[in-house]
Amino acid sequence: MARRVYIFDTTLRDGEQSPGVSLNVMEKLQIARQLARLGVDVIEAGFPITSPGDYEAVKTIAREVRGVTVAALARASFQDIDQAWEAVKEAEQPRIHTFIATSPIHMRHKLRMTEEQVLEAAVAAVKRARSYVSDVEFSAEDASRSELDFLCRVLEAAIAAGATVVNIPDTVGYATPEEFARFISEIRQRVRGIEKVVLSVHCHDDLGLAVANSLAAVMAGASQVEGAINGIGERAGNAALEEVVMALYTRRDQFGCETGIRTEEIYRTSRLVSTLTGMPVQPNKAVVGKNAFAHESGIHQDGVLKERTTYEIMNPQMVGISQSNLVLGKHSGRHAFRQRLQELGYELGEEELNKAFQQFKILADKKKEITDADLEAIVEEELRPVPVTYTLEYLHISTGTTIVPTATVGLKKGDELFEEAACGNGPVDAICRAVDKVTGIPCVLKSWGINAVTSGKDAIGEVTLKITENGGKTYLGRGISTDILEASAKAYVNAVNRLLWETGRLKE
Ligand code: KIV
Ligand code: ZN
Repeated sequence: MARRVYIFDTTLRDGEQSPGVSLNVMEKLQIARQLARLGVDVIEAGFPITSPGDYEAVKTIAREVRGVTVAALARASFQDIDQAWEAVKEAEQPRIHTFIATSPIHMRHKLRMTEEQVLEAAVAAVKRARSYVSDVEFSAEDASRSELDFLCRVLEAAIAAGATVVNIPDTVGYATPEEFARFISEIRQRVRGIEKVVLSVHCHDDLGLAVANSLAAVMAGASQVEGAINGIGERAGNAALEEVVMALYTRRDQFGCETGIRTEEIYRTSRLVSTLTGMPVQPNKAVVGKNAFAHESGIHQDGVLKERTTYEIMNPQMVGISQSNLVLGKHSGRHAFRQRLQELGYELGEEELNKAFQQFKILADKKKEITDADLEAIVEEELRPVPVTYTLEYLHISTGTTIVPTATVGLKKGDELFEEAACGNGPVDAICRAVDKVTGIPCVLKSWGINAVTSGKDAIGEVTLKITENGGKTYLGRGISTDILEASAKAYVNAVNRLLWETGRLKE
């Protein structure tokens, strides 16, 4: 029998700590639902004490998402733990995850606590959490830079106090695989009671070793791996869960382990996380990158055509990447559209389907062949849960190398149409200024990026941008079109709609 490795997903907590990422409650819920579909064992939904938004997100996910353990993070303080419990208590399987640092550097400089104080705080925290719930995870932050004797004492005390999972984070991504495996083996040998609990690891990617360290730990006996989809997270990120899972599966001859992941959901989960966080996936990223299954050289192409396994160790369908050559076009009807979406795994409600179908028809007028990638881009646009205040009705641009770029935009709000024009340093700048004139909200464009969804001159351009008002929080916007200026205008309006919604100014 293969040993079971539990997958703990922290995309919504550590992942959301990625610079520039901020998800609202509905977006977190959408990701949590997809993570449950993916089959992760634990969703760490947030850190409730840190903000009312985080509290609300954990509460909503705990209430709405079934069939999975939902964890809430808390420092080793009663206030944090009480708040975490309030947020997570409606979950079908709630878990409180409490942590305190155990390395000399953290204890001395950050906590300003002695070893004995840390040990006492860890025990008190676990006991407090256990007074609420039977599933309690204890993490020794910066464990990999902790002194082993002291770390083992803390872990043993945490287990005696009632921890059911103990987690060994490589918080700053400092460990190397062999060393980390030895560390885990030592812990397994030395800590009394360790065999009764789940031994977990949580690796950061500062040296690009997070996945390797996690896998080395599994080899050494760890039975839970923590990480985030697409490897997002604090600084260089967390272990990329899709890579951990596919390594465990593809090399099961080596690891002898299994997970509960439905691998066919990996690609969709990756896309969703990338779309909602605005963090693109690099093309050469393992498992989910655009090029992960692309064969460029003639020799490789020839080999794959003769026998796929010559150059492919994984099957793209296994991770949910469609290989279909089926294309839709302007004569395709609603039925074919819906069926293809279902085949791609999207279940849309009637209203979403109608909107997506309208977008499909508009695109089909401009683009002869609509591929699966185009359909995914359309659907992801419709699935973004931002209430619409303004919609782009039309856009006129006058630009060139010798004239001042000028944009005229028509925006609809309810039944009213507003038109404004503005000049700018470039056409995108002119668009943003014209939109600002309509909304009366002067925003600053913090970042702008474009991704071609498919190849060819008529490819859809997917613009992702971020705006701020008064240099505060950033708001993400996304827009698609075969015209990159139209995609930019849509993305900007989408970001403004988000700003209005998240700042409670929908009626403005
Ligand atoms: O990296 C870390 O140490 C953490 C802990 C809170 C588990 O994220
Ligand atoms: Zn972390």
